[in-house]
Amino acid sequence: MTSQVRGIQLARLLGQWHALPGRRRSPDYAALAAAVRGLLADGRLALGVRLPAERELAEALRISRTTVTAAYRELRDSGHLASRRGAGSWTMLPGTHRVASTGLWTPLDDRDMIDLGVAALAAPPQLVAAARSAAEDLPRYLGGAGYHPTGIIELREAVAHAYTERGLPTSPEQIMVTNGTQHALDLVLRLALSPGGAVLVESPTYPNALAALSARRARITTHGLATDGAGWDADLLLGSIRQTRPKLAYLIPEFQNPTGHLMETELRERLVGVAHAAGTDLVIDESFVDLPLDGAPLPPPVAVFDRHSRVISIGGMSKPYWGGLRIGWIRASAPQVQRLAAARVGVDMASPVLDQLVAVHLLAEAASIVTARRAQLVAQRDALVGALADRLPDWRVAVPRGGVTLWAELDGPISSALARAAEEVGVRLAPGPRFGLDGTLERFLRLPFTLPAADLVEAVGRLAAVRYDLDRAGRPQWREPTVIA
Ligand SMILES: Cc1ncc(COP(=O)(O)O)c(C=O)c1O
Repeated sequence: MTSQVRGIQLARLLGQWHALPGRRRSPDYAALAAAVRGLLADGRLALGVRLPAERELAEALRISRTTVTAAYRELRDSGHLASRRGAGSWTMLPGTHRVASTGLWTPLDDRDMIDLGVAALAAPPQLVAAARSAAEDLPRYLGGAGYHPTGIIELREAVAHAYTERGLPTSPEQIMVTNGTQHALDLVLRLALSPGGAVLVESPTYPNALAALSARRARITTHGLATDGAGWDADLLLGSIRQTRPKLAYLIPEFQNPTGHLMETELRERLVGVAHAAGTDLVIDESFVDLPLDGAPLPPPVAVFDRHSRVISIGGMSKPYWGGLRIGWIRASAPQVQRLAAARVGVDMASPVLDQLVAVHLLAEAASIVTARRAQLVAQRDALVGALADRLPDWRVAVPRGGVTLWAELDGPISSALARAAEEVGVRLAPGPRFGLDGTLERFLRLPFTLPAADLVEAVGRLAAVRYDLDRAGRPQWREPTVIA
């Protein structure tokens, strides 16, 4: 089934398309086509989506139909739109591009691209040895069929042990191994959310979580995070759970993606109490919990305060170890794990045994691997922060105390325009609006510090150059808002 975007929806996504910086006096139709390409490039407009009829979009944007016709023609010429008479027009990808692992599209020949769209580290050097040891362990499993819907016992024990060490007593029966944290979230949503169910998320938040929620047809509401200071406003967050009583709240309390915020202990405790009273289940994404960077002790896991099986924690190997392993997990009550396993049989049955064994070996060396990862991230974070202070001093940057990303406040609503311009000079960015729902957050940009320091410094140099070009193209002239009576 092809999904369709309506005229007013596309108009909202396009925002101030006619006045984006860097437009360089191009005609309206070309600016409109460029803005649609920008939405496609940063994933806000999916591939294979039917665009509104020309007349409908013209009305929604309050421009002439000729402009829309010309823009659609240009999109067809550049390979971004396919049309069939009587059936409409669909978004597509030009032959010279491919879909990258982030879901963003990228030129095929992009070897020199510095990819700041992905917030994940390359594999640690210990990975090959762990894979060899795992292969040696494999014969122990070869006598069985190899399907373990909740995961192999060794890995569940290792994950349960890590939770217990963090002050949250956990048995292996409370752990289900998944193919990454994203898979964990999808399974939890299948179990705990019916279509149309209300879910509260942070804004900004992790874009692929929004994608998982949309796929389950969730009704999403947001809690806006402050850019600096504590991040979550306790009264607002708890107030909105009390008032709206969502079925679920999806939160990232440790080094939130993208802001890097860390939720303090007191709010964790109050959150669980309020969620229980409101009938809200908490899905707590602990992807970055192993990556504090300032040496201060971490607050206890949110689930420590849970007495009623309200908290489902998800996490995985991708951030401290390697995304390519595709190993994650869910911590829930033992009955919930059984229900998840039953649901999983209709999805993917089980996770690969060999990969789980690799994870067991890596977790056995957690202390040394994760210590080295943190040191690497501190050095890269500091190089990025230093380069930003040097080359883009007007951007406001709160130095994150952990995780792998910082959330920069730019010197104007230029995030999408900058991402487009940066692509031209070999830097891929995920602009601010990717992390929200409604096309806002144009003043913000997520910058991961997962690449080597030299690449980060080079990328900031290129960004500073294109930022300067955006200015030289003339400051945007914002149109007078139209009065609608
Ligand atoms: C908050 C958050 N959750 C989940 C994921 C997905 O992780 P995985 O690779 O384990 O599926 C990521 C990856 O960036 C993330 O940042």
